[in-house]
Amino acid sequence: MIEIIEKAKMQHALTKQEIIALLEVPAIDEELAAAADAVRQKYVGDEVHLRGLIEFSNVCGRTCRYCGLRGANKNLKRYRMEPETILDLARKAAGYGYKTLVLQSGEDAYYTAPKMEHIIREIKKLDLALTLSIGEKTTEEYRAYKRAGADRYLLRIETTNSELYKNMHPGMSLENRLRCLNDLKLLGYEVGTGCLVGLPGQTLAMLADDILFFKAIDADMIGIGPFIPNQDTPLAGEAGGTFELARRVMAIIRLVLPDINIPATTAMETLNKNGRIIGLQSGANVVMPNVTEGEYRKLYALYPGKICMNDTPAHCRRCITGKIQGIGRQIASSQGNRKKFAKE
Ligand code: 5AD
Ligand code: FES
Repeated sequence: MIEIIEKAKMQHALTKQEIIALLEVPAIDEELAAAADAVRQKYVGDEVHLRGLIEFSNVCGRTCRYCGLRGANKNLKRYRMEPETILDLARKAAGYGYKTLVLQSGEDAYYTAPKMEHIIREIKKLDLALTLSIGEKTTEEYRAYKRAGADRYLLRIETTNSELYKNMHPGMSLENRLRCLNDLKLLGYEVGTGCLVGLPGQTLAMLADDILFFKAIDADMIGIGPFIPNQDTPLAGEAGGTFELARRVMAIIRLVLPDINIPATTAMETLNKNGRIIGLQSGANVVMPNVTEGEYRKLYALYPGKICMNDTPAHCRRCITGKIQGIGRQIASSQGNRKKFAKE
């Protein structure tokens, strides 16, 4: 097993069987994380990129079976921010020193392309890199956002297994998800994707396929999170993913995609109170602190136990900076685009 890790550390390539082997043996967790940490340091350095996250609407037209924002969940009070409110938060985020802003929402038809273009243009005046995470759109819409100035787009594939995908996402298809990711790449976005770890019915072989898929499409950013069952969804009684397996998936992704951006995700910290720092020491180089304010934070309830529910943006900024400096890493001062390394 140690040989497989050593090989991946040097060659950044693994077969499906090798990935499955690494995923199923907990005994090598520390070796795997150390290898991912070394590759992270060699390729993307010690700087940690912070991305300020604005959750601007929890209204969603989809019914993903794991997600608390699913339209069918009647137990959630819904909100949407007006463009001026979003811009206000964006200006504050720039004031806290964020170099990248992520605008995330449910799939909310209220935000038409012209509305989004207005928001994007205004935010770009602040000299920030802008990431959108607003779901599946048409090619034309993606083109319009790009023209308006959006730089990056996050759209997790969630799972590459078409059966599991169909099962988890009523009325949606893996084909359209792939179409979206392909459009985004062709339009020149930096593309972020990722998967959920521990979905009901998901196998290690499926996770290995997910990892190979990320490499095949040469994703620029990969966010991994454990599935956390939400009481207000049909998956309320299911088991949920583990921190350990999500960490293993993340570390393997760093080994095979050495120069990409990898966030230590909020869902990781929900399952382990030191989850983001452990993530940063197991291959990650990005953190996405929440800059949403007040009641909205609590209402963006993807899953239970989300961290920082009662904290302010200023508090989170200070808190995470302290934690990052506490492990001898620095907050990056650049926008943190992916810098591709030439193939060895
Ligand atoms: N547990 C963990 N992550 C979830 N997400 C949605 N619902 C859950 C859940 N119950 C993740 C999805 C989505 C991201 C914004 O939040 O992967 O892409
Ligand atoms: Fe929000 Fe620490 S990052 S309280």
